[in-house]
Amino acid sequence: MQFFSCTVFFLFAAISSASAAHHRQPVTIRCSKSDTDDVADDFLQGIKKANHGGELWLKKGETYVIGKKLDLSFLDDISVRLDGEIKFTDDVEYWQANNFFYSFQNTITFWVWGGKDIKIHGSGTLNGNGQRWYNEFAGSEILDPDNTFLRPVLFLTDNATNVEVSGIHFLNSPCWNNFFVRTKNIKFDGVRFDATSNNASALPKNTDGFDSYNVDGLTVLNTEVNVGDDCFSPKPNTTNIHVENLWCNGTHGVSMGSIGQYPGVLDYISNAYIKNVTLLNGQNGARLKAWAGPNVGYGYISNITYEDIHIENTDNPIVLDQCYFDLNATTCAANPSKVNITDINFINVNGTSSGAEGKVVVDLTCSPGATCEGIHLENIDLTSPAGSPPEIVCSNINGDIGVRCTNGTDSPP
Ligand SMILES: *[C@@H]1O[C@H](CO)[C@@H](O)[C@H](O)[C@H]1NC(C)=O
Ligand SMILES: *[C@@H]1O[C@H](CO)[C@@H](O)[C@H](O)[C@H]1NC(C)=O
Ligand SMILES: *[C@@H]1O[C@H](CO)[C@@H](O)[C@H](O)[C@H]1NC(C)=O
Ligand SMILES: *[C@@H]1O[C@H](CO)[C@@H](O)[C@H](O)[C@H]1NC(C)=O
Ligand SMILES: *[C@@H]1O[C@H](CO)[C@@H](O)[C@H](O)[C@H]1NC(C)=O
Ligand SMILES: *[C@@H]1O[C@H](CO)[C@@H](O)[C@H](O)[C@H]1NC(C)=O
Ligand SMILES: *[C@@H]1O[C@H](CO)[C@@H](O)[C@H](O)[C@H]1NC(C)=O
Ligand SMILES: *[C@@H]1O[C@H](CO)[C@@H](O)[C@H](O)[C@H]1NC(C)=O
Ligand SMILES: *[C@@H]1O[C@H](CO)[C@@H](O)[C@H](O)[C@H]1NC(C)=O
Ligand SMILES: *[C@@H]1O[C@H](CO)[C@@H](O)[C@H](O)[C@H]1NC(C)=O
Repeated sequence: MQFFSCTVFFLFAAISSASAAHHRQPVTIRCSKSDTDDVADDFLQGIKKANHGGELWLKKGETYVIGKKLDLSFLDDISVRLDGEIKFTDDVEYWQANNFFYSFQNTITFWVWGGKDIKIHGSGTLNGNGQRWYNEFAGSEILDPDNTFLRPVLFLTDNATNVEVSGIHFLNSPCWNNFFVRTKNIKFDGVRFDATSNNASALPKNTDGFDSYNVDGLTVLNTEVNVGDDCFSPKPNTTNIHVENLWCNGTHGVSMGSIGQYPGVLDYISNAYIKNVTLLNGQNGARLKAWAGPNVGYGYISNITYEDIHIENTDNPIVLDQCYFDLNATTCAANPSKVNITDINFINVNGTSSGAEGKVVVDLTCSPGATCEGIHLENIDLTSPAGSPPEIVCSNINGDIGVRCTNGTDSPP
């Protein structure tokens, strides 16, 4: 067991809650004395006290262990100042039996944040304590319909309006770092994400930076994401997206999607402006991804602009993947994607691929089942270590894309 130097200030703790609109009186709670000293009940009390205009303050140098699921769906004007560390227990058996479940990709979470005017700020850490989850998930696949080893999302909002998260560090989430559901106006500023494993045969998987579902108004500014899956990837029905000054390392890219997974369901992503992003050492840079296959949905991705994007050592710097997830060419051709891709701009994109796809640096192969039009590339300066000239592949796209491209139907990469 790990012990913490928790300063016990019982006498002064939790004596004040606030009503003043201007000055938020800090509410404090006891900290954990060891990594099994669960303060979930104290945390919930602190949140209730700080609700309606106050602030819960989690102090620097202290750890607050959460070992019980928390329903925080009742919030209305609250601030949480996280300068210390919130650390979830890694009691896999407990969390797999006690969580909040979302049927979209069988997602579970430790806690749900909902309501309105929710602010989380500070210099502290939200620690998902993911190592045991990574070890025990190793070899499984999240999108395998038979997978039963579910892992919690580190931060989840549902039915929330006006949420702001700034300054804090997300560490070792067991699964996605964030999932925003039925949420309106959520903004992240100055946040850092890391997911790393000390076990080479159990890497952190599916530790996406940002996922969303039925969200309008998603802003991410000045953020760094160092994880092993998507850096930023809005999912079905996300609109009005603004990303600026984002740094991604070792990720699967800034992806629109995946969408179009569930049969009979219409999904869309529209109105996104993605500016000044650096993507290093990844699988993808700017990616659009939609499902195909015998039993999937339909929809559209439209009005998306990527501008000022710098990419290094990345397998697919710009890619449209409409054969998600993991379909071979035969199955994909027999059951093409029904997700349309329209009005997409890639402007000022420079850097290098990894060479994994040979000379191909851009692959825009549109599904024969979909309409792809209004695709515009401008000022693209991407090279491949596999040789020059670098190749831009296009296929089944209506209209001119703004740059010379090779017809993928004639010469597959
Ligand atoms: C969403 O939250 C509002 C209060 O913010 C509440 O009145 C409403 O019942 C909630 N809706 C659902 C579906 O939970
Ligand atoms: C590392 O992960 C592998 C794969 O799950 C597991 O068999 C092994 O026990 C883990 N090592 C440690 C030290 O936990
Ligand atoms: C672009 O984003 C990086 C962080 O990735 C930041 O350091 C830089 O200042 C930004 N550039 C501009 C022009 O804002
Ligand atoms: C970037 O990711 C690579 C692995 O992909 C890692 O070795 C390196 O330390 C990371 N860099 C930073 C600054 O986090
Ligand atoms: C997306 O919105 C459409 C139109 O409102 C709706 O039919 C569909 O069910 C929504 N998709 C999801 C995944 O909620
Ligand atoms: C396209 O998206 C941008 C945000 O990036 C928005 O300002 C603009 O109004 C959208 N255009 C249309 C036609 O909806
Ligand atoms: C995709 O485009 C086709 C042809 O323009 C159109 O008939 C279809 O309704 C579109 N699908 C969606 C989901 O918008
Ligand atoms: C590459 O793109 C970045 C980000 O847009 C920009 O700051 C840089 O000047 C560009 N480099 C070149 C050589 O064009
Ligand atoms: C493609 O995948 C399908 C379904 O998994 C499989 O039946 C088929 O044999 C595969 N074809 C090739 C060429 O790999
Ligand atoms: C690409 O090749 C296909 C098949 O040969 C052809 O039908 C299509 O017109 C070509 N497209 C362009 C833009 O040349």
